[in-house]
Formats: sequence, C-alpha cells, structure tokens
Amino acid sequence: MALLFEPLTLRGTTFRNRVWLPPMCQYSATDGVPGDWHLVHLGARAAGGFGHVVAEATAVVPEGRITPQDTGLWSDAQTEAWARVVRFVQERGARAGVQLAHAGRKASTHRPFHEGDGTIAPPDGGWTTLGPSAEAFPGLAAPAGMTADEVRAVPAAFAAAARRALDAGFDTVEVHAAHGYLLHAFLSPLSNHRTDAWGGTPENRARLLVETVDAVRAVWPDDRPLLVRVSATDWVEGGLTVEEVASVAADLAGHGVDLVDVSTGGNVPARIPVGPGYQVEAARVVREVSGLPTSAVGLLTEPVQAEKVLAAGAADAVMVGRAALPDPSWALRAARELGVDLGTLPHAGDRARVTDATRTGWPVQYERGAWR
Ligand SMILES: Cc1cc2nc3c(=O)[nH]c(=O)nc-3n(C[C@H](O)[C@H](O)[C@H](O)COP(=O)(O)O)c2cc1C
Repeated sequence: MALLFEPLTLRGTTFRNRVWLPPMCQYSATDGVPGDWHLVHLGARAAGGFGHVVAEATAVVPEGRITPQDTGLWSDAQTEAWARVVRFVQERGARAGVQLAHAGRKASTHRPFHEGDGTIAPPDGGWTTLGPSAEAFPGLAAPAGMTADEVRAVPAAFAAAARRALDAGFDTVEVHAAHGYLLHAFLSPLSNHRTDAWGGTPENRARLLVETVDAVRAVWPDDRPLLVRVSATDWVEGGLTVEEVASVAADLAGHGVDLVDVSTGGNVPARIPVGPGYQVEAARVVREVSGLPTSAVGLLTEPVQAEKVLAAGAADAVMVGRAALPDPSWALRAARELGVDLGTLPHAGDRARVTDATRTGWPVQYERGAWR
C-alpha cells in the first residue's frame, strides 16, 4: 500500500488518504457567497479522490477579502451556500475544510483575471486596508496601522467565522497565517513595527496568531482538526526563518493546533528558489521541531515524488494545487500509478457526515471509465 493512500486520523477525524487539495482562491463569489463554480470545483476534486478538500481563503470580515470576489463566512447566506458545497464533498468521501483568512494590507486588490493591477481604491469598490503598521506591500496602497481595539477584534472575527464553518458542516478549519496576509504580517519583523504587546519580540509578533488560534479552538469541536498555514520563511535576510517559524509551531502545539500546513513567502518581494518540492524541507523542519504533523505543498506534481515526501518523513500529507486544476482526478490517477486499487465508492445517498475512513474509491457513476 502506498503511504499516500494510508488513512490519517487527527483527533476524531479520519481522512481516507493523504492526498489533499490546498486552498485556492477562485475569485468567483458574489458578496462572499460561493456559487455553482465552487460546488463544481471542489466537488469534482472530492469525486476525483482527494482525501481532504480545503476551500479557498475565505474572509472572516468583508475588509479581509483579497479581492471583492473572495468568499466569506460572515453572513447567513454564505454559511448556507457553503453547507451545500460541504455536503457534496463529504458525500464523495472527502473531508471538507475551509481556510479562514484576513488579507490585511494585501486586501482590496483586483482579482488576477486581467481586469487591472494593484489596489482597488475605495471609490471604485475597494476599501481602506489594515496592517500591523502603516507600511505598504510594494505596489499596493498603504494600510492604516491598526489600533489596539482593531487588533483585539481579530481573534473574535476568526472565531465567529469558525462557528459559521461548523454550522456549514466543515470537518476542518485552517487559520491562514501565510503569504503576507494579516497574521503573517504580524508575525514577520519585516512588516510589523509595532511597539505595543503585538510587536517587537518574536513572542509579541506571534501573539495575534496565538490569540486567534485560542479563539478558534474555543468554538471548534474537540473531535475536529484545526490547521494553521504558515509561511515558514520570508526568503529575505532579516525576515522570518524556518527556525523561528518552527518554534512558533511548537508553541501552537500547546494551543490545540493539529497540523501545520507549510508554505513560504508572500510577505515581501523575494527571490524564491522555486522548483520541484521546494518547500518540503521547511515542512520537515517544522515537523521535527514542533512535533506536530505537517502537510507539504509546492510543485508536488507527480505521484512518485509525492510518495517520497511521506516516505522521507517530511510530512504527513501532501497538497497538490496547480497540478489538480486541469486534472481534478489527480488522486485517482496517483493511485493507479502507485499500483493501488481503491475499489468503488458506493452511491452516497444523503449521508451528511462521513464517519469512517472506508469511503474511498471510484465514484460508482464513473466506474466504467476507471483506470485499473
Ligand atoms: C489559483 C490559486 C489560488 C491560490 N489561493 C490560495 C489561497 O486561497 N490560500 C492559500 O493559502 N494559498 C493559495 N494558493 C497557493 C496554493 O495553495 C499552493 O500553496 C501553491 O499553489 C503551491 O502548490 P502547487 O505548486 O501544488 O500549486 C493559491 C494558488 C493558486 C494557483
């Protein structure tokens, strides 16, 4: 049996395999409400064999959206729309996750659909962004430096969104603390120049992340995993290093975090040595130092390559992003290439929540096309 297709249990939740879909913004929501595109995008990958399908960066408050077309979890309409997506994903045997996000100083931008570049100004449908300090991400408008009251409101906003995620039926939530968005901007000395309790020392810079994790954990059920995505390095001299972020992860282990999803970069422009598996070593270090399970992501495009990441003990799951965009059945293809017969997934009926790890295999509707 390939390691990729071994089930994984975190708390009371078992994932049928370790081939996971990372969060990927679709920039296709109206008023933060996911629509048919999201159902088809996430649903196809659940049917395509992924064990955990993580919905895109979903804003906890309107001003936390990267673009006006981001999804959200601050209204009843959003919660209900997500519930439909979650139900479909779970009926296909996958676990449904959602990444909870606040874009901070990288909010209010054009979506990358050739509609314009940079910040959308308030008169054009954008909004004033917020950051730890009033310093711009190069190329974007400068944010307002947050007041202490504004900082204090962040954990509660994440917790309220987590409560809605629970109402929608999600199996997991992931706190987005990567890619230069709000929690990463607080964590990094390159973007956080505060002189209060949330700035300065590594402990102070990590404070908002820890407070946010505590607030989410307090409303998130004991049997459901809480993930955090980090950027393990800023890839810039004087910025966050893998060692510092691994030590933050070790601290998060004591705050109820169950897995660290290890990405890198995004807080400042940097020369990143992008190549196959370029973030795997960071996942290995975070795993070793923190003692927490990790997922590895970043140009893991081939099944044998992904299998080796697990075999090397660098991570407990792999995430396959861009390679799964043209290939929603990447996981089913990986099983074939690794010589694993997943069998057939029976018709799901109306089962709302998956309770075992046996729901693996080809959708019965697609059986006649199965690669075996
Ligand atoms: C279209 C697209 C949207 C993305 N949106 C998000 C997101 O919402 N949250 C996030 O943490 N990363 C996001 N990412 C990064 C991916 O999750 C992933 O970490 C990255 O693409 C590297 O993995 P890959 O080489 O397998 O694609 C996005 C990437 C792509 C291509």
